Amino acid sequence: MGNDMKTATVRVQRFNPDVDKKPYLDTFQVSLENNPTLLDALQLIKTTIDGSVTFRKSCRHAICGSCAMNVNGRNLLVCHQPLRKHLNNKGEVTIKPLPYLPIIKDLVVDRTAFWEQYLRVKPWLVPPPDIPEKEFRVTPEEVAALHNAETCIMCGACYSACSVVGMTKEYIGPHALLKSFLRVIDPRDTILTERLTDVSQGDGVARCHTIFNCIDACPKGLDPTRAIETLRHLSRKRQALEKERQERQKTLVMEEAKR
Ligand code: FES
Repeated sequence: MGNDMKTATVRVQRFNPDVDKKPYLDTFQVSLENNPTLLDALQLIKTTIDGSVTFRKSCRHAICGSCAMNVNGRNLLVCHQPLRKHLNNKGEVTIKPLPYLPIIKDLVVDRTAFWEQYLRVKPWLVPPPDIPEKEFRVTPEEVAALHNAETCIMCGACYSACSVVGMTKEYIGPHALLKSFLRVIDPRDTILTERLTDVSQGDGVARCHTIFNCIDACPKGLDPTRAIETLRHLSRKRQALEKERQERQKTLVMEEAKR
C-alpha cells in the first residue's frame, strides 16, 4: 500500500443477536492522518460514524488483554498495531471477533469457557505452610524459568486460535496449560503432583495437536506449545519430581532462616 493513501477502508464484523440472524461486514472509511492504531480506528468509527459499533478495550498499552480481535484472519491486540500495517493493496482491513467463542455483540465475545478452564488448573500459587518471614530464596535460574510464562496477559488470542478449542470447549486450552506450567516449575508450589495429574486427564495435554497456532497468535511472544510439551514430559515422572520438590522446599525455608 502506498504511504500517500489518506484513508483506509475498515470492514467490521457486526452482529446484534436481538435483530440479526447472522454476522455481516459493515464498511467504514477512516482517516490515516496521525497514523492511528487499529483500536484508534474503531474508536473513531464509534465516536464519529456509528456509536453502536461494540468492542472491548481498556489499557490501550497491550497490558490488559481486553482488545484481542481477529484482524485479516489473525488474532492480535488491536491497541498495539498500526492500522497502516494491516491494510492490503486496496487500503482495506477486516476486523472480526475472536474465533470459536460465542458472539455477544459485534466484536465482543463471551469468554466464559476461557475463564472456566483457567480456574480449573488452580492458577494461584499454593505455598508451603512454613512461610519465611521475609521472602523465599529462589535462585536466579528459577526466576528466569518462570519469567517467560508469567508475562501472559490472558487476552485469549492463543485460546481462540487453537483448532482443538474449535472442536471442543472441554479442552483445558493453551492459556490455562501455560499457567499450570508456570505453577509446576515454581519451586514454592506444593501441589505439583495434583497439578500434573490434572493436566494428564483426557482433556489436558494429550489433546494438543502441536499445530503451533497458539505461538503464532500470542502477542507477547510466549510459547504455550513448549509448555504443554514440558508438562507432558513432567507428568510421566511426577512421583520423582514430588520428592525433589519437597527437598527443595526445605532448602527454601532453611536459606531464609540462615540470613
Ligand atoms: S486495550 Fe488493553 S491490551 Fe489492548
